[in-house]
Amino acid sequence: MVIPSLYPSLQDPEVYPNPDQFIPERWLDPNGNANTNPKNYLVYGSGPHRCIGQEYANMHIGLLLATAVVMMDFEHHRTETSDEIE
Ligand code: HEM
Repeated sequence: MVIPSLYPSLQDPEVYPNPDQFIPERWLDPNGNANTNPKNYLVYGSGPHRCIGQEYANMHIGLLLATAVVMMDFEHHRTETSDEIE
């Protein structure tokens, strides 16, 4: 049995340059590395059993965030462990 690991796949610098940085623009270019290497994006799986709810889930997440941004005031409280990745 082969169990793929999400973390190294999603942090692969050849596909996602500066993988630790929040750069949503990396997804804008249809011919860019992020979009031309869909097998690296394992959040919803890959291949024949890839999640059928991906577009539905992404729309809901986007709508939820948009609603939250409109209705709430955010303030970022950085702590000593804020930047630690487990
Ligand atoms: C953030 C939300 C979601 C995440 C992260 C997620 C993630 C995944 C992943 C990783 C797989 C692949 C499992 C594998 O390779 O065996 C999968 C499969 C699947 N997902 Fe999702 N999912 C989400 C939401 C949804 C929603 C909203 C639906 C339905 C409305 C859904 C329906 C399915 C189904 C039916 C499969 C099985 C597809 C198959 O085996 O052919 N998922 N999901």
